[in-house]
Amino acid sequence: MADRKIGMWMYSNGGGDVIEKKIVDQLKDREIDVFTELNLRFAKGSKEGIICNNLNMLELDLFFSYNAGEQTNTQVYMYETIDKYVTTMNSYASFALSEDKFRSNIALNKVGIATTDFFLCHRESPEYLVAKFKEWEKLVFKPIDGWGGNGMILLESSQSIDALMPFLNQTDIRHIYLEKFIDNDFSDYRIDIVDDEFISCYGRKANAREWRTNISSGGSIMHREANDKIIDIAKKATKALGLDIAGVDIMYDREKEEYIVLEVNGIPAFATPKQEKLGLNFNDKKIEKIVNLIDSRTKHKKR
Ligand SMILES: Nc1ncnc2c1ncn2[C@@H]1O[C@H](COP(=O)(O)OP(=O)(O)O)[C@@H](O)[C@H]1O
Ligand SMILES: [Mg+2]
Repeated sequence: MADRKIGMWMYSNGGGDVIEKKIVDQLKDREIDVFTELNLRFAKGSKEGIICNNLNMLELDLFFSYNAGEQTNTQVYMYETIDKYVTTMNSYASFALSEDKFRSNIALNKVGIATTDFFLCHRESPEYLVAKFKEWEKLVFKPIDGWGGNGMILLESSQSIDALMPFLNQTDIRHIYLEKFIDNDFSDYRIDIVDDEFISCYGRKANAREWRTNISSGGSIMHREANDKIIDIAKKATKALGLDIAGVDIMYDREKEEYIVLEVNGIPAFATPKQEKLGLNFNDKKIEKIVNLIDSRTKHKKR
């Protein structure tokens, strides 16, 4: 009889449903019960605990949250609460850190990992921004918690600050986050890491009219060999953020002549069926490592 109970919330688009089934089947083979579709958007918290899909989340041995869809504040709040009593994967703290570009960059730089040059200040301090515009010439304005290349603005000259301020005045963004534009060839590396092990490497190339490499910005997948240097950087970055599962995006900075970590994703997508046809064949390995990790984590219950 199964003596362990884990919960999952996994994305279902882009072949996620097939991946989920494989994970569930492999966990069942190890006598681990799995409850799926635990979308905290529909959870209710009370004296009884946090109830989602008729299940008390606080009685789980582990909650595996793997859905990058925009999460509401309440959802994230529930995730944080559950984390106090149940092992979460990724842990709430590292998930939250990886969702924040500024804090992630601080954490990476603290352990000596090269990132973009970045800058954050209060929106009421435009004089700081003017100084940065003079220093960097070409900058990227980013929401600190954005995804898919959304909401970013490429600013090309010192005049552009005049264009940024009216835009900011229409938003409720309180602090402004900027990065120096990296001199790059509009391609990147995506390194997948699970439990400190290298899973896969591929790249993305921006389409001809874009500077962003995201698939959702029209970028396309390219085959790319990993090398020891980038694997090492990816592992260190994953560790710096405390992530069990990570997709580390690395770019080559042509000006500084070094690899830099652009961002660390806490919910890196599996290869879609279409990408698998193009030869991205890491899904089974990644599934196996995730299953191993869930298995070993639940052998020693949190409380
Ligand atoms: N500072 C930068 N210099 C050059 N290109 C950048 C910079 N920041 C982001 N990009 C491009 O934009 C893409 C999206 O940026 P990223 O920080 O990864 O945000 P998101 O979370 O939206 O994917 C990157 O993959 C890269 O191609
Ligand atoms: Mg990105």
